[in-house]
Amino acid sequence: MTIDIHYADAPLGHEIRGIDLSQPISDDVFAEIEAAYDRYGVVLFRGQNLTPDQQIAFSKRFGKLTQYVVDRYNMRTHPEIFVVSNVLKEGKATGLADAGRYWHTDMWVTANPPRGSILYAIEVPVDNGVPKGDTYFASTAAAYDALPDDLRQRIEGRTAVFSSEAYFKARMARTPKDPVTGDYTDSVKERMQQRPKEVFQQHPMVKVHPRTGRKSIYYAEEAIDHVVGLSPEESMALLDEVRRHILQPQFIYRHVWAVGDMVMWDNISCIHKATGDFDLPLHRTMHRTTLASLVAA
Ligand code: SIN
Repeated sequence: MTIDIHYADAPLGHEIRGIDLSQPISDDVFAEIEAAYDRYGVVLFRGQNLTPDQQIAFSKRFGKLTQYVVDRYNMRTHPEIFVVSNVLKEGKATGLADAGRYWHTDMWVTANPPRGSILYAIEVPVDNGVPKGDTYFASTAAAYDALPDDLRQRIEGRTAVFSSEAYFKARMARTPKDPVTGDYTDSVKERMQQRPKEVFQQHPMVKVHPRTGRKSIYYAEEAIDHVVGLSPEESMALLDEVRRHILQPQFIYRHVWAVGDMVMWDNISCIHKATGDFDLPLHRTMHRTTLASLVAA
């Protein structure tokens, strides 16, 4: 069998049709799915109806899974599933409400970030018939291929230093304050106080994909403190140029979610961003599994 791929008008975000992921998948079909995933970086399936066990079973076909770093957002009965949700139960969060609302690659804070993630839509907010909470994906592999020579030479062989505190500060700047008190809510203040000590993590600005050998730009906005060997001003200018290069429309796919969609992304050859353009009482709930790094720890 050859899988039926419907191509998006972008280098990534192609839909694989005609496969029910709740059913056993033959090795041949799985090999084609994995090849498409490696090649394009983002592939997706629509109209699925999966239990957590079925999502985990499909995800494990790609190898070992890894758990999301903040355990309270992992499903208690299935800790392999990270719950992204704005839904409250008895006033308490059922998941992480504002996950990924910036251009990033998952878990850059770790030395060997995961291979990729698989996000399955349980609840999608719809406002006056318009789906909300889209996710954008940008191909950092296609962006690498299209780098002007001069910019390629300036990032090739360079190392960027990522910082948890740089990211946290940017995230706080996006967090709305209470309109009455003009201050952060108590739960946000608690989150600020409980954050771990600053972690620095170095990553090459260009990464080679361990399976395909293809090069990609490794980048996350707001998370990079500086580029090794450059002054703060030079770092900022270079990162800004890299950002503007990657975020050109020809490298971007925008996923408009429907319940039952499952989107899987490669964590080296693309970056992604959740729009977060909705609020309660609209509900958005996603179940994410995370594929362990291809690089041995
Ligand atoms: C994530 O970055 O894992 C979440 C993306 C999304 O919720 O759209």
